[in-house]
Amino acid sequence: MEIVVLPDGQAIGALGADAIANLLQRKPDAVLGLATGSSPLAIYDELAARCAAGAVTLGRARGFTLDEYVGLPADHPETYRNVIDRDFVSRVDFAPGAVRGPDGLAADIPKFCAEYEAAMAQAGGVDLQILGIGTDGHIGFNEPGSSLASRTRIKTLTRQTRVDNARFFEGDVDAVPTHCITQGLGTIMSARHVVLVATGSQKAEAVHHLVEGAVSALWPGTILQHHPHVTVLLDGAAASRLQLADYYRETYRAKPAWQGI
Ligand code: F6R
Repeated sequence: MEIVVLPDGQAIGALGADAIANLLQRKPDAVLGLATGSSPLAIYDELAARCAAGAVTLGRARGFTLDEYVGLPADHPETYRNVIDRDFVSRVDFAPGAVRGPDGLAADIPKFCAEYEAAMAQAGGVDLQILGIGTDGHIGFNEPGSSLASRTRIKTLTRQTRVDNARFFEGDVDAVPTHCITQGLGTIMSARHVVLVATGSQKAEAVHHLVEGAVSALWPGTILQHHPHVTVLLDGAAASRLQLADYYRETYRAKPAWQGI
């Protein structure tokens, strides 16, 4: 795991966008794994700006989103499909239909989940997966107790996650769906490079477990300690509980710039 502590969201956005731009240069039809929520917004903003300036194209890239609420009407502004369209897809030059996501209204959810896994495999697998992390340590919506080998499936959201996400539902926790479809921890582990973003002190405990804790289903993100290529982009507040923060800073400072992340 490479831990990079940066001064602010803008620096996180620039470094995350560099990783994607470098990938697209090597592989223009790369497959991106896309998270929704606040954490990746700086990366999406930066990519939208570079795309508008003609410095990056996603014209041949493909994308798979991580998760989706079950049961929200398709035109609800908070379906993750609508959120990712608003925050990212509509602001760059993806080809129509290039970004797919779980169908939270599927009549047969297990069948849909198997098809989603098959579509990702058929696309060649995810080259770069962008992730956030929940205050309870979830990645995707793999809540505490998730199987460390899980694949795409339906999950029940924890009360904590629903409280955290009530901000997107006018503060009404009861309006936050109780279930979601999420890529599993095993699915996320199949991505070739994982870039996880966390900012703010409310993420500090989850980040501490993610990076320095024991691998455990209680803190699902810890499975990433077994992944060969994970980059964790943090601001100072999210890094504030890391025991080895000085070492991570020193290591990154000494890294030749050309290596990227
Ligand atoms: C979103 C997702 C979640 C979020 C996490 C953090 O697609 O899968 O794991 O990344 O809940 O959310 P934010 O970034 O809003 O703090």
